[in-house]
Amino acid sequence: MFGLSFYIVRQTLKMVNFIIRVFKRYPWFKRLNAKVTYELLAKKIPAEEWQFMNYGYVPNASEKPFDIPLGPEVQRHSLQMYHYLALKTDVQGKDILEVGSGRGGGAKHVASALQPASYIGMDLAQSAVDLAKRLHKVPNLSFIQGSAESIPLPDNSIDVVLNVESCHAYGSVDKFFSEVKRVLKPGGYLLLVDFRSVENMDLLKSQLAKSGLELLEEENISQNVINAMEEEDDTKQARIKRLVPAKWQKLFADFAGVVGSKLHTNLKNGTRLYYRFALRKKS
Ligand SMILES: C[S@@+](CC[C@H](N)C(=O)[O-])C[C@H]1O[C@@H](n2cnc3c(N)ncnc32)[C@H](O)[C@@H]1O
Repeated sequence: MFGLSFYIVRQTLKMVNFIIRVFKRYPWFKRLNAKVTYELLAKKIPAEEWQFMNYGYVPNASEKPFDIPLGPEVQRHSLQMYHYLALKTDVQGKDILEVGSGRGGGAKHVASALQPASYIGMDLAQSAVDLAKRLHKVPNLSFIQGSAESIPLPDNSIDVVLNVESCHAYGSVDKFFSEVKRVLKPGGYLLLVDFRSVENMDLLKSQLAKSGLELLEEENISQNVINAMEEEDDTKQARIKRLVPAKWQKLFADFAGVVGSKLHTNLKNGTRLYYRFALRKKS
């Protein structure tokens, strides 16, 4: 009996996965999928110890180590993803917008450690915004709900847009880039990290090339992300066991990029790539 129900659950999950893969070609479905997934995650697992949803980063030897007192509960590698991305320009005293701020851990870190004048974390999922507001109370930091494809801010109002592992989920990445260009002040920066398949990374590069923003730097950081996944695997697995109901743990572990997950395997065999970009709006 147990064997049969396990088989049915497994087949249903396979079917759902297949349907998601097919429908992800459609922008409306990508938007809906992102909204439903991230609304649910923040509602069902509002744990304070889970503040980041990116796969993490181990810095290059040339990147300056930073010394911030971190408890064992802090997702150090995911925090490093933000820290070294934000260091691509000087953010001190600047107005930052983060698009896709999730549970707000990165926003809290950059807003407090790197001292921008203001930091707005924006996310499509209202429940993620509510959770971030509850978890992170820093004077220069605020969170709002909004879509990357229609940013609810005035033209020429932002110095730096940060975007961490989020734009793969957008219905139209071209619309996102035109919104970034609109809200950035002349001379403002877009700092972005995300993963794609090899073909889709070429597509992302061509979308950036026609965005009207000037490309300053482009780096393949796949190995830095693989190193992070491997270094923090034990902690991540233990966190999943603590926070996620038993029946969802396997599915969640794959989503979270544990060692041996699809993303970890594909980054290692080079069929997926993880890149970091720095761009600037012309003055
Ligand atoms: C993988 S999570 C990364 C969250 C966060 N940047 C981090 O590193 O912890 C992707 C985030 O992008 C948000 N997102 C997806 N589509 C969006 C959209 N169209 N506009 C704004 N945020 C979006 C999701 O709700 C989710 O919080």
